[in-house]
Amino acid sequence: MIVVFINLKGGCAKSTSAVHLSRWLLNKNQSVALVDTDPLSTSSIWVKNLEQGIPQPQVFQLTNPQALSQELVKLGEQFNAVVVDGASGSTEIQQATLQVAHLGLIPAQPSILDLAATDQTLQTIRQTQGQRQSELKAFTFLVRVTPKSVLLEEAQEVLQSYPDIPLLSVKIPQRQVIADAMGQNKTLFDYQGDRNAKAMGRCYEKLFQEAGL
Ligand SMILES: Nc1ncnc2c1ncn2[C@@H]1O[C@H](COP(=O)(O)OP(=O)(O)O)[C@@H](O)[C@H]1O
Ligand SMILES: [Mg+2]
Repeated sequence: MIVVFINLKGGCAKSTSAVHLSRWLLNKNQSVALVDTDPLSTSSIWVKNLEQGIPQPQVFQLTNPQALSQELVKLGEQFNAVVVDGASGSTEIQQATLQVAHLGLIPAQPSILDLAATDQTLQTIRQTQGQRQSELKAFTFLVRVTPKSVLLEEAQEVLQSYPDIPLLSVKIPQRQVIADAMGQNKTLFDYQGDRNAKAMGRCYEKLFQEAGL
C-alpha cells in the first residue's frame, strides 16, 4: 500500500503527518518505508533524531521525479506500507507519486493561499484518477485549525465542493505540542504522561482510521 501526503503548498503539515502515520503503522507491527521526496529533508531528519528506543521506519530520500514511480512500486513490494512525504512546489514529483499511489491524503490549512494551491493538487488527482480508473483513492483533511473561525467555515465549504475527493471529518488543531514534537526528538505517540500530546496523538489516530488505514 502506497500512501502519499501531497500538496504543492509548504507548511500544511505533510512532513508532520507522514512521520506520524509511519510511527503509527509501526505500532501496528507493519513494516514501513518512509519516502522523503523533499530536498529539505524534514521527515528524514526527524526520524534520524528520534530518541533511542523509539521505533523508526526505514527512510528513503528519493528526489528524482523521473525514477520515483518505479522506485515506489519496488518499495511497495518490500514493505507493508510506503508512506510518501510530498515535496512542496514540485508538480513533477506530485505527478510521479500519484501515478502509483493507492491513497492520496491532502492536508490543507484554512487559508485562502492554501486553498488555491490545494485546488491545483486536486485537479491533478482527478486527472490521474481518470487515467487509473479509481485505483487511486483520495481525501482532503484540515490541519492547523482554530475552531469556530470564519476561515475554517470557508475552508470547509470549499473542500466540500469536491465530492469525488471527500473531506475527512477529523481536523487537526493548531497546537504548540505538535510544532514542538520534532525538536523534542519524539512523535506525539512517544510522550509519557503528557495529556496534550496524547490527545493530539489520538486525533491523528482517528484521522488515519477515518481514511481507512
Ligand atoms: N497541528 C499543528 N499545530 C501547530 N504547528 C503545526 C501543526 N502541524 C504542523 N505544524 C508546524 O508547521 C510547520 C510546517 O509543518 P510541516 O509538517 O513541515 O509541513 P510541510 O511538510 O507541508 O511543509 C512546522 O513547523 C510544523 O511543526
Ligand atoms: Mg515537508
